[in-house]
Amino acid sequence: MQKIKVLFVCLGNICRSPMAEGIFEDLVEKEGVADRFEIDSAGTSGYHVGELPDARGRRVCSENGITLQSRSRQFVKQDLSDFDYVLAMDRSNHRNINNLKTPGANYKAVVSLMRAYDPQPDSHDVPDPYYGGDSGFQNVFDMLERSNAALLKEIREKYGF
Ligand code: 4NP
Repeated sequence: MQKIKVLFVCLGNICRSPMAEGIFEDLVEKEGVADRFEIDSAGTSGYHVGELPDARGRRVCSENGITLQSRSRQFVKQDLSDFDYVLAMDRSNHRNINNLKTPGANYKAVVSLMRAYDPQPDSHDVPDPYYGGDSGFQNVFDMLERSNAALLKEIREKYGF
């Protein structure tokens, strides 16, 4: 069976999107549907390519039983053809992803804002926690957990499993 491919995207691929990736992986495992998915994350910049996720994000995730071990990679245009769902963490990244598209061309990926799935959307954006403290990472964790639950529910309804 063809896997449903989901890609989470932020700027550096060391804070928000690796957390989203780890939380979504944990969720699909808990729901017993991990074999239906391929899950990845990327950054629109190449600033941190090859790095592990930020220690603050790894700590918040490990407190919730989630180990982050992805390495930062840069988003590439090919991702728009390879993935079914591309979730941008904020409007700036959403714009940068869409700007890679050749006008008039069709792509497999549906590119959405992560917070379009948040049942408590106080903003369009998952705020960048990089320059803040630990509380910013907890806040990001909470909104990603809510948003990912809604995303998985929508996918399961659409594909009927
Ligand atoms: P992320 O956070 O996009 O959530 O990974 C950031 C990480 C690094 C930088 C900015 C945002 N930076 O400017 O280096």
